[in-house]
Amino acid sequence: MSGDLIMDSETAAASFADVRPDLEIFLSEALAGLGATPKTLPSKYFYDDHGSVLFEQICELPEYYVTRVEMALLKDIADDAATEIGPGARIIEYGTGSSEKINILLSALDNPAAFVGVDISGTALQGVTQELAKRFPALAVHAVCADFTQPFDLPDIAGPGRKVVFFPGSTLGNFAPDQALEFMANAASIAGPGGGMLIGIDLKKDEAVLNAAYNDAQGVTAQFNLNLLRRLNTECGADFDLDTFSHKAFYNADAGRIEMHLVSQCAQVVSLGGQSITFAKGETIHTENSYKYSVCEFQELSRRAGFEPLHGWTDSEQMFSLHYLSVAPQEAV
Ligand code: AVI
Repeated sequence: MSGDLIMDSETAAASFADVRPDLEIFLSEALAGLGATPKTLPSKYFYDDHGSVLFEQICELPEYYVTRVEMALLKDIADDAATEIGPGARIIEYGTGSSEKINILLSALDNPAAFVGVDISGTALQGVTQELAKRFPALAVHAVCADFTQPFDLPDIAGPGRKVVFFPGSTLGNFAPDQALEFMANAASIAGPGGGMLIGIDLKKDEAVLNAAYNDAQGVTAQFNLNLLRRLNTECGADFDLDTFSHKAFYNADAGRIEMHLVSQCAQVVSLGGQSITFAKGETIHTENSYKYSVCEFQELSRRAGFEPLHGWTDSEQMFSLHYLSVAPQEAV
């Protein structure tokens, strides 16, 4: 990890800390995943600059209802959430890829005091925090470019207002259940006693709707998936022939998740980091899981992580949910 704190002269109001994983970590995680049976690659590596642009395009696709439905729901419930959160709040957002959702929340809040955006993609994060610093001059704005599945230091944002973790987009669904529990428990300890969490969670639904959302007609999700191999070629000197891998995504009902894979169209050997990786025809690399929850399943998970679920909101078609969770205040001894 590089641990530089970069103060950007154009954004005096925003601090920017870069602690994203370096190339060696990317290569060693890729080699470990491609050496395993079945082969895997970590989905967090989708999000370089190119992948972040592709993800923004996914969010606009007709089949990918997730972003559209969550945005509409967030607009509907923002005032209720702001009442729960209270004045002078200190907001920490994980996965700050675009400004739209955080703008809705910050605009509804009563005098928010501080904002920390955390994302693995530095360019997108810098753009958002610069925009927020201009739009909310009284807000202390910080950006931390980091892999938030790993421990890292947050800037000090001490103050009297409530600390609230904002985690929209159902990104929790990209974690395996044990990792999701660990992430939620960590969020509870970051928010601290009396703090809270506002989180977006995609709901279980008709399989045809889910399958369409991850198999769009324009092939943007396929490009997003293949971006992992493109990155290994350009950043780690691999020689994947992208035309020989195809995108595959399907809902696994037993596991309650969408799975994304890259399927080798032929028997082939690929070189990466001085190692030869052999693929049989039809062999897959499992690149992403996107778990879907019922409201009850998610509330149960949040309780196990140390939260009390105070509010759960869903849209009228039961596609998506937003939850406000509170960390129980510490009892006096
Ligand atoms: C970021 N995450 C919640 C997306 C999802 O739906 O799991 C990533 C994604 N993968 C394919 N399309 C979108």
